[in-house]
Amino acid sequence: MRVLIKNDEQSVAAFAAEYIACRIKGHTGEAPFVLGLPTGSTPFKTYARLVEMYREGRVSFANVVTFNMDEYVGLDREHPQSYHRFMWDNFFGLVDIKPENANILDGMALDLAEECARYEKKIQWYGGIDLFMGGIGTDGHIAFNEPFSSLNSRTRVKTLTQETIESNSRFFGGDTSQVPREALTVGVGTILSAKEVLILATGSAKATAVKMGVEGAYNHKWTVSALQTHPHGILVIDEPAAGELTVNTYRYFKEIEK
Ligand code: PGA
Repeated sequence: MRVLIKNDEQSVAAFAAEYIACRIKGHTGEAPFVLGLPTGSTPFKTYARLVEMYREGRVSFANVVTFNMDEYVGLDREHPQSYHRFMWDNFFGLVDIKPENANILDGMALDLAEECARYEKKIQWYGGIDLFMGGIGTDGHIAFNEPFSSLNSRTRVKTLTQETIESNSRFFGGDTSQVPREALTVGVGTILSAKEVLILATGSAKATAVKMGVEGAYNHKWTVSALQTHPHGILVIDEPAAGELTVNTYRYFKEIEK
C-alpha cells in the first residue's frame, strides 16, 4: 500500500483529480475507462477540481463509464440526499459523461438482491473496474462495508451501523430518524477486484480509521485494512488524518514520497 500524506484536503483533492485525469487520457468509446466512484464530503472537492479541469479543456469524460459504490435503500433518485442526486448535482451534470455510462445502484428496486447481482454482472461485462476511488468512514468502512463485513463480499444490501447513521445524519438536518437503515453497496471484494484503488481520507475524525487501516492487522472490523492486500492500493490523506500514525510510519511514507 502506498500512503501519500498531503498538507491539506485541497491538496488531496488536487492529487486525486490529476490522478484520475491522467488515467482517463487516451481511452476511446470502444475501450472506455471504467471508474468506480464514491459520494460524501471527502470526494466533493475532487469532483469540483475535475469539473474545473473539464471546463479548462484538460479532461473529458466522454469515454468513461462509472460505477458508484453505493446508494441508500428506499430513497427515490430525486431525493436531495440520494447518491443519484449527489452525483448528478456535483459531477455528472457538470461534465460530458454520457448519461447511459453513469451507473448507480437503484435503492428503490423491487428486488434488491437482483439489482445487486445485475450490477456485479455489468461491471464484469465491462471487464472490471480500472480505478476505484473511495473514502473511509470513521469506523473504517469502505463503501458501506461496515465493520465485520466479509472481506470477500460482493454487491449486496447492508444494514448501516449506528455510528454511520449518526455520522450521516448531518446531511439529514441532524435527524437520525431520517437516515435510511439500509444501503446497497459494492463489496470489499468488488473494490479489491479493481485494477487500482485510490482511497481518500481527510480530517482528524478519520485518523483512527487511517491508523487501523495502515498499521492495524488485516481485519474485518476495519474493512479499509483489506487495502493492504491490493497490489495497487493508494491511500491519500491530509495531515490531520495522519495524526494517529506512529512517527516511524509517518516518516517512512514522507521519505519515500520525496
Ligand atoms: P465522508 O464519508 O466523505 O462524508 O466523510 C466517507 C464514508 O463514509 O465513506
